[in-house]
Amino acid sequence: MTGLFITLEGPEGAGKSTNREYLAERLRAQGVDVVLTREPGGTPLAEKIRELLLAPSDEPMNADTELLLVFAARAQHLAEVIRPALARGSVVLCDRFTDATYAYQGGGRGLSHDRIAALEAFVQGDLRPDLTLVFDLPVEVGLARATARGRLDRFEQEGRTFFDAVRSTYLNRAAATPARYRLVDAALSLSEVQQSLDALLPELLELHRG
Ligand code: TMP
Repeated sequence: MTGLFITLEGPEGAGKSTNREYLAERLRAQGVDVVLTREPGGTPLAEKIRELLLAPSDEPMNADTELLLVFAARAQHLAEVIRPALARGSVVLCDRFTDATYAYQGGGRGLSHDRIAALEAFVQGDLRPDLTLVFDLPVEVGLARATARGRLDRFEQEGRTFFDAVRSTYLNRAAATPARYRLVDAALSLSEVQQSLDALLPELLELHRG
């Protein structure tokens, strides 16, 4: 068995949290050791950085500061959780990773692809996800679901233009490297989304078996 690095991506309101639990359960039912984690976060220190990133504040956060905090959290998460788990041969199921940086800091904030790619190489070396599931849904549906959940974090307070750019960045990245991405239609009902995850399961198990 080789370690397998799977990331889940998509906008707020796409049902990633519910579906990551579902996918983890399905994999565990097949006897697979699954490490379920998230970004920004995944270790106590990285979760503190997450709080800095998500808390609305009177002091506007500079976009470069935001980018560096995201990668600072990622460096800690990689060192403490992701790399050790992959070395043990586990499946790492990570709710968001560097595709979110391209989508939010790149698409949303307008930072250059090259600047993000430079930090990606610095922090990750050659490590990239083996497979990325993009939970895609219309921007207005995601925003309505996030708003219905209650108090909005610093990213959720962004508007339509920001989330249009987030969505199109995810879709463009998936289209540019189709071998690494699987699109999941997150506008469907929960049971339909879970059926599409079930359909992906054999492929995930096959990849894990190497
Ligand atoms: P969520 O995981 O609860 O959806 O919230 C995390 C927020 O952080 C989400 O709005 C996306 C944002 N984010 C970035 O802006 N860049 C990143 O690299 C990551 C991992 C998340």
